[in-house]
Amino acid sequence: MASSSTPFHECRTYYLKSGISQSGFSSVRIPIRWSAHTLPSDPNTIDDAFMSRVQEVVDQAIQENLKVIINTHHFNELFYDDRDYSYQRSRLLKFWQQISNRFPISQYGEEKLIFEFLNEPHEDVGVREWNSLVVDLTNLVWNKNANTQNNALGQRKVMIGTADWGGVAKLPYLRLPRAANPKNTIITVHFYEPFKFTHQGASWVEGADGWIGTRWLATQSQRNVLLDYLNVVDKWNAAPNRGFEINIGEFGVYSLYAPPEDQQAWTAFITREAEKRGYSWNYWEYSSGFGAYDPHSGHWRKALLGGLIPEDVDSL
Ligand code: GLC
Repeated sequence: MASSSTPFHECRTYYLKSGISQSGFSSVRIPIRWSAHTLPSDPNTIDDAFMSRVQEVVDQAIQENLKVIINTHHFNELFYDDRDYSYQRSRLLKFWQQISNRFPISQYGEEKLIFEFLNEPHEDVGVREWNSLVVDLTNLVWNKNANTQNNALGQRKVMIGTADWGGVAKLPYLRLPRAANPKNTIITVHFYEPFKFTHQGASWVEGADGWIGTRWLATQSQRNVLLDYLNVVDKWNAAPNRGFEINIGEFGVYSLYAPPEDQQAWTAFITREAEKRGYSWNYWEYSSGFGAYDPHSGHWRKALLGGLIPEDVDSL
């Protein structure tokens, strides 16, 4: 099991619950819907009880030697409120201002807590809008909040994804500000290919019922499809002035219909490929539709956990 001094790129990631670090994971990504707990109008104050609860969860995870990523999840007003994009955009900056105030680097060191600005930009946040937000968000954290987010060791580490739902396809269009470097920035991509396999039967995806029965048998051609996507990432990162830590921030298979052996094979394949390439990864997710932990039985789903962390599963 990795310890808190493990470089983040070697971390295994999971949601917080006692037993997560014992199961071999060494970090957690906590998706947070700030927009649902914030005044909808100025000054967009985040509800204090909610902020305190987030802080409590972050503290517990750090106590368990888990590195923590906090993000902005499901900020649908930003994606879909066409009339008021610039106002919603300003709200995102206000969330991160308040988060920066609550989590200073003096208490939450740059190796312990990572800020992921926005989960899966899409719809109104296209490539252009996202690139412009990245400039403003990094400026907010590293410059405007330099007193709380920079220290002698460095700066708050931020995680930056890609437009069009976080997939690999828009990585070549991501423009990073000059201040971004491998010490302060992690690039994150989400990986759900082939979508018809990973999301078969998913209630929130239109048409997904028609995909039930799609198999993933690890054939050479199926593996090649995935390798081609991963190679896009490697190629991007090999260009001059890059060499960022790459994080597969979400990957997983919706469990209700996919045969467990296919789910395990796909998960193991992505995980091993990520590790081979030196990427960190966060499995999506803990205990819901894709979960590796079954909250009803109170046990890990061994086959799936075995796909993620083969070396630790036998000790459970
Ligand atoms: C994204 C969505 C989440 C969904 C997951 C898998 O993280 O925000 O709601 O469950 O992808 O589709």
